[in-house]
Amino acid sequence: MVEPIVIQNLTKDFSGFKAVDNLNLTVRQGSFLGFLGPNGAGKTTTIKILTNMLSATSGSALLNGVDVVNDPKTALAGVGAVVETPEFYPYLTPRETLAYLGELRGMSAEDIRSRRAEVLDVVKMSEWADKRIGKFSKGMKQRIAIAQAILHEPSVIILDEPTSGLDPRGMVEVRGVLQNLKKKQYTVFMSSHLLNEVQEVCDDVALIDHGRLLKSGSVAELINSVNIRRLEVRTLQQIDGAWLNKISQIEGVQELRASGPASFHLTLDGGDENQARLLHDLQALGLTVVSFKESGVALESLYLSMIKDSK
Ligand SMILES: Nc1ncnc2c1ncn2[C@@H]1O[C@H](COP(=O)(O)OP(=O)(O)OP(=O)(O)O)[C@@H](O)[C@H]1O
Ligand SMILES: [Mg+2]
Repeated sequence: MVEPIVIQNLTKDFSGFKAVDNLNLTVRQGSFLGFLGPNGAGKTTTIKILTNMLSATSGSALLNGVDVVNDPKTALAGVGAVVETPEFYPYLTPRETLAYLGELRGMSAEDIRSRRAEVLDVVKMSEWADKRIGKFSKGMKQRIAIAQAILHEPSVIILDEPTSGLDPRGMVEVRGVLQNLKKKQYTVFMSSHLLNEVQEVCDDVALIDHGRLLKSGSVAELINSVNIRRLEVRTLQQIDGAWLNKISQIEGVQELRASGPASFHLTLDGGDENQARLLHDLQALGLTVVSFKESGVALESLYLSMIKDSK
């Protein structure tokens, strides 16, 4: 079976500075991979090489088995990408824009008509199909950008930080579209610097920094391998300095901070057993625990520790 995206020993050198450094990565058929890294990690550079907007210094990138350097046209035929949010003509509607872009790509009028309604539905923009794009929010324009990327029915979608620069509502809307893409069984390669976003929509994750791959695998595996938990605890008692002092002495407790008059959060070393023991220990101190929950950003701790190690 031909894997949809295979990156081999990819390196991009900008006059002595390696933005991408011997990167190897394979994206499985039908998977949604989060390409995760902080600012300057090399995400956009990698994506620009994949989409033939930039040439690699060495190494190769295969899309559906075809080398993007040797034969970009064939390699990219089955790929839809949103790299920089495209500028749309403000006076055109989504329906007109898609017709025009479809024509540019050589699609038949018939094809355009049938695909257009479908892609507008995927990006949840059907009800805006005949409104001028000039009036749209950034999030709506981003959804139109995704619509145009999938118009020609690619099997692979490449997205560079699709929620970046959006307000919280725009982010939620675009993530809803990402979930739709996932349901449609596309292979998606999406860069992000947000762990929660990757946790929410991706099956697999590849962590990069300084152009190098730190770790790759399933999101679930990565989360299971994290032995640091972030916990949020609410109590009946007011949490003063004396309480914080006692709590900080429980084994494995780190980064303890009050988060309200009767609540605190902390990170805890260890897995489920330590977490269970912590609850017991808090109660043994005399605290009446009202709620005790993981706040879901434990991956962040792993991420930060891996980035530190890679420096
Ligand atoms: N044309 C260029 N010339 C020189 N250096 C470049 C060029 N393009 C990118 N870089 C550098 O390469 C590194 C990687 O940049 P890149 O844009 O790929 O990062 P990124 O992961 O997309 O970051 P961000 O989250 O900020 O978008 C950065 O240090 C950047 O300054
Ligand atoms: Mg970038």
